[in-house]
Amino acid sequence: MVEYDETRELSDYRFDHNNILGIEQLSARDIQHILDTARSFREISSRPIKKVPTLRGKTVVNLFFEPSTRTRTSFEIAAKRMSADTFNISASTSSTIKGETLIDTARNIQAMAPDILIVRHSCSGVPHLLSRHVEACIVNAGDGSHEHPSQALLDMYTVRERKGAIAGLRVAIIGDISHSRVALSNFLGFIKMGAEVRVAGPGTFLPVGLEQLGVKVCRSVVDAVDGADVVLTLRIQRERENDSLIPSLREYSQYYGISRKVLTYAKPDALVMHPGPVNRGVELEPEVADGEQSVILDQVSNGVAVRMALLYLVLGGDKESPERREKA
Ligand code: CP
Repeated sequence: MVEYDETRELSDYRFDHNNILGIEQLSARDIQHILDTARSFREISSRPIKKVPTLRGKTVVNLFFEPSTRTRTSFEIAAKRMSADTFNISASTSSTIKGETLIDTARNIQAMAPDILIVRHSCSGVPHLLSRHVEACIVNAGDGSHEHPSQALLDMYTVRERKGAIAGLRVAIIGDISHSRVALSNFLGFIKMGAEVRVAGPGTFLPVGLEQLGVKVCRSVVDAVDGADVVLTLRIQRERENDSLIPSLREYSQYYGISRKVLTYAKPDALVMHPGPVNRGVELEPEVADGEQSVILDQVSNGVAVRMALLYLVLGGDKESPERREKA
């Protein structure tokens, strides 16, 4: 049943979030507004001079306590394209390794008056904790196995761009659900926007309570992919497993990897997605990862526009003068 119509104009709506901690805190209207705002920023990245003055004078700090290629770079590019000043702090270059607490680190960074902290940490809830101790806006760039809201927003943006709307689509999410922060953010987002979400994965990768979120748990990958508009695969998160939860990667790829044959069960125009980094030959057959239906690199490109929208909205950009918005 479609409960949300994202094609309707938003009226009497106001984006009212100073932090982006998770998709859990966003309504369908918030998500629609973020995706609409991202669409208006998308074209900036194809200009010869990819820079607008929208966030001039603002300071964005990337505070990453876990490795990242896409998210950190994408937030930095997004901020720079909007003329913000950006600074990167990683676990290995911060004084947390000398024993400073995370809260002390954040309060010391706050003392230098940043406007936004983009936070990634291996512990679930760290961005939420920091939001209670600093004045700067907090954007969650991935907390443990909890949420990765900007990833889900760029995934939804990519689907909406290709399919026109999210409501009514069937989305199959395959793989390591238990350890994936992308999984929960995408469940919450796609369901709020009116999609049907099905999952499949080894029993050791499926947490209890998925049905309570509105997710349909399938017995096999073919059941999940059958008739799907979107096939979204997740990385096996070896760094978050205490014990080996699958017999071997070869066995995993045999039963849960997306091959060309498995993909034939989805709709002919189904999108193949992956948040990255991809374990080639494990979650996706290389021919599928690089095939015509793959939008994996589109996800990365769209991530810049979505993160520009997030930076702009949390700083209250859409509440400023129309002239300022017009320049973007
Ligand atoms: N999708 C994602 O979060 O990738 P990175 O770990 O490279 O940021």
